[in-house]
Amino acid sequence: MRFDRRQLLLGAGSIGALGAICPLPAMSHAGGVRLDLVAEGGRQQLLDPGEPDTPIWGYGGRTPGPTIRIAQGGELHATLRNALDEDTTIHWHGIRIDNAMDGVAHLTQAAVKPGGTFDYRFTLPDAGTYWYHPHAHKPMQQDRGLYGLLIVEEKERVSVDREVALVIDDWRIEDSGEIETASLSSLHDAAHAGRYGNIMTVNGKPFERLPVKSGERLRVRICSPCNSRILKLRFEDVKAQIIAIDGQPVDPVALPDAAVTLGPSQRVDLAVDFTGAPGSKAAITEVSRERLVIGEFELDDRAVQRDRVLDSAVVLPATNAPRPDAGGLKDALRFELVMTGGARGSMDGAVYRGKHYPIRELAQKHRMVWAFNGEADPHDAPLFEIARGRTAVLRLVNNTAWPHGIHTHGHHFQVIDRSIGSVNAWLRDSILMEPREIVEIAFVADNPGKWMIHCHMLEHQMAGMQAWFNVDTQV
Ligand code: C2O
Ligand code: CU
Repeated sequence: MRFDRRQLLLGAGSIGALGAICPLPAMSHAGGVRLDLVAEGGRQQLLDPGEPDTPIWGYGGRTPGPTIRIAQGGELHATLRNALDEDTTIHWHGIRIDNAMDGVAHLTQAAVKPGGTFDYRFTLPDAGTYWYHPHAHKPMQQDRGLYGLLIVEEKERVSVDREVALVIDDWRIEDSGEIETASLSSLHDAAHAGRYGNIMTVNGKPFERLPVKSGERLRVRICSPCNSRILKLRFEDVKAQIIAIDGQPVDPVALPDAAVTLGPSQRVDLAVDFTGAPGSKAAITEVSRERLVIGEFELDDRAVQRDRVLDSAVVLPATNAPRPDAGGLKDALRFELVMTGGARGSMDGAVYRGKHYPIRELAQKHRMVWAFNGEADPHDAPLFEIARGRTAVLRLVNNTAWPHGIHTHGHHFQVIDRSIGSVNAWLRDSILMEPREIVEIAFVADNPGKWMIHCHMLEHQMAGMQAWFNVDTQV
């Protein structure tokens, strides 16, 4: 769906027939999953029917790539085949993974060259909704559609009738159907809110229609592979509760104002009950900036699942991920990450690759506009080191005029304090911070290796907001 006047003026009912539901291809096997993921070009109808299609990159030439379903504790063996003409890798976002399988080029593995392959082989410790994408410091790869869902199934049955997934992306597309690339190196976008698109897709389509029944209870897994857009999704005419964040179960909570906010890379699982009458519709609307209907649930006009909505909550089994507050935080080691830079900021310069530059030179010569602790894209040394098994408290100081979505690899954290947003007990792998906000996160550093910490707004990440930390037995 396009963000334009036409769409803004039309209601959900006026959007013509756009093809039947085609669920994401899924592959699952109890115990283990073996598959090939070929990173390659393809063409896909991202614009409305009748408009040109779009050259994309995808795993298997489709976006999203295959949805991988695997049982908790199972082993995934995925062979990446690089059919692009540039280096790539696959990162398994949100998985507490063996460091060697984390897929970060130049940190945990060598980049996979064009024509090359890499075998990713690891077990999945926690159930939940995850995703995979390249981590080769080339934001265009994800922007062009290289990503897919990774669903790790609970051992226990979850009390819903069915589940569906919504992978919601925004794209910047020309009228010709081509992805607009001129702005990709735009320092303007990098120094502001990042590169927002002009169309949105759900599951790789311009509009998603999901047939449901009155009284039915669905688990809806939502994932945002957006470069930078902060999604705000409104679910109308349903009863919806959040049951997991970033794959990790939470105590069910109703959507505030019927809407859920997702920063880039975040996932949320909802339990959705269809309260409407048979034959009615329930719209999914993206309301972060403009108001855009991106999909709808269509209630069957005859079949009814049950004649009154279930009132029990859907409670997912507890995660295996360690809680940092379980052993008390008094022995935690404290670190700080101060973010500076961007438009309307006060950063007058920063270190880059060992040398200090004034901001103009940093931006024009090195295309860096952000810094972590005074250094843009610190790469040569870890941001901090911590002994395996210790608990880290990391104070994130957003000393900029922009929101950021900070993501840690290999560990789930808990927000223990924040200056603007509210604190809860959720475990998560990313946190959306308000401008000027200070957030304290805590996590048990139980996974040895070199782990990225970065803003998942890709234009910010590439322009300086990425670093890594080291978890070691020798520290
Ligand atoms: Cu979604 Cu560093 O990753
Ligand atoms: Cu950012």
